[in-house]
Amino acid sequence: PVLVVDFGAQYAQLIARRVREASVYSEIVPHTITAAEVAAKNPVGIVLSGGPSSVYEEGAPALDEGILGLGIPTLGICYGFQVMARQLGGEVAHTGQREYGSTAVTVRTDDENSLLGGQPEAQIVWMSHGDSVAIAPEGFDVLASSASTPVAAFASDEKGFYGVQWHPEVKHSQFGQDVIVNFLHKAAGIPADWNSGSVIAEQVEKIRAQVGSARVICGLSGGVDSAVAAALVHQAVGDQLICVFVDHGLLRQDERRQVEEDYVAATGIRLVTIDAREQFLSALAGVSDPETKRKIIGREFIRSFEQAEADLIAEAEADGEPIRFLVQGTLYPDVVESGGGTGTANIKSHHNVGGLPEDLQFELIEPLRTLFKDEVRAIGRELGLPEAIVARQPFPGPGLGIRIIGEVTQDRLDLLRQADAIVRAELTIAGLDAEIWQCPVVLLADVRSVGVQGDGRTYGHPIVLRPVSSEDAMTADWTRLPYDVLARISNRITNEVPEVNRVVLDVTSKPPGTIEWE
Ligand code: XMP
Repeated sequence: PVLVVDFGAQYAQLIARRVREASVYSEIVPHTITAAEVAAKNPVGIVLSGGPSSVYEEGAPALDEGILGLGIPTLGICYGFQVMARQLGGEVAHTGQREYGSTAVTVRTDDENSLLGGQPEAQIVWMSHGDSVAIAPEGFDVLASSASTPVAAFASDEKGFYGVQWHPEVKHSQFGQDVIVNFLHKAAGIPADWNSGSVIAEQVEKIRAQVGSARVICGLSGGVDSAVAAALVHQAVGDQLICVFVDHGLLRQDERRQVEEDYVAATGIRLVTIDAREQFLSALAGVSDPETKRKIIGREFIRSFEQAEADLIAEAEADGEPIRFLVQGTLYPDVVESGGGTGTANIKSHHNVGGLPEDLQFELIEPLRTLFKDEVRAIGRELGLPEAIVARQPFPGPGLGIRIIGEVTQDRLDLLRQADAIVRAELTIAGLDAEIWQCPVVLLADVRSVGVQGDGRTYGHPIVLRPVSSEDAMTADWTRLPYDVLARISNRITNEVPEVNRVVLDVTSKPPGTIEWE
């Protein structure tokens, strides 16, 4: 792999993704990693990330000095560039001149220069630093400068060390991806051979070796991650895998059919559906407190899953092949954020309905553990999964249960499902799916307002639209939907959904609002 050393800013994940976009596998490691640990991972390249600190600060994140002695091609970015400059005998200075945001740099473009060669001499890059490299280490060529930073990039092809003061991983740096590509392919000579196909082949082999002839169980939620994880495992071990899908009655229109028909047709997976709709409705009767609803839904989910599991275990034992493994759709950001890679963990502890009890007797198979969401989607497409599932936007485990403000009843679920289907259809027709992270549709079941329809007075419920744009759901802004799209949605909902006589738009960012209303 290429190791991305995380100095504690939010940039390491972005760098890791950009490296992978250049078809090279990357892994994030903490800056506390030792030279021996690095060597053990046998990396073909190293990227030192940016960070929030100054190299002068007490307790500023350091780097084991042995790492730069391993002879591995290394690219330093921002703080990583300064750490590198210092360790190799250059000089970093507090110039008092901060550069922040879009900055003009002049770069050396001769062909001998493997990092920046072939790029325009004048370009705009994204800077964010207080200190600057004043003198490059001996034997290094200075490759770029800005008005206030004389050494904005340097290189030593002989030593295999490269660095830039700016952030090539952010889109605001005009030729940023070229810097990363040049470092990987030209400077370090790393082949571009990592892609969906190679990941599938590698995982299939690994899963086969792990599972042998045992049986495997997987809970499907209807979302992308579990669908792709199960499809990968199925590719590896076929009908040794059994999937369980719990219909808790809080799903959106058509979702159960998409899983039971389209997904099964595309994969040939053996699927057991548990129809738990009645069970959930009666457990939720009379409850309107959001946290209580979430707890009940989580508890009932585990109950249904364990029931199905018990039956399958009994069946498998009768066949003489025990169920030994459980598939989970854990993704790389979850691994990194829960301490797998960084010092700046910001963990969100969502109650996930797909989450299973901790005392499970199974070994885990997590085939997506090293992947980002967009990579998981690419693999899903490669495996031929239906687009409706592969492209699905985030949907909370507790489903529509936390989008009815008030008690959850069958009638209310039906209303909300109808309104939600209209919103999703209209956003898709308007070509807005890529712009929107997700658009919860919320029923204010305990609120009524007066309206007029035909000749009569109405007294109905409002529907709230909550379209948001986001990178990772940690923060979000409300999406400025075109007025004509909003008008069409409002018209259709008030005409087609009984008992709804008003449509309102949520214009709150996160924070202070959360994305979901409960
Ligand atoms: P909030 O409402 O906290 O939501 O801003 C952030 C993101 O998480 C989703 N969400 C959940 N996902 N189980 C999940 O799997 C949950 O209990 C849950 N609650 C919220 C939400 O849709 C948004 O994408």
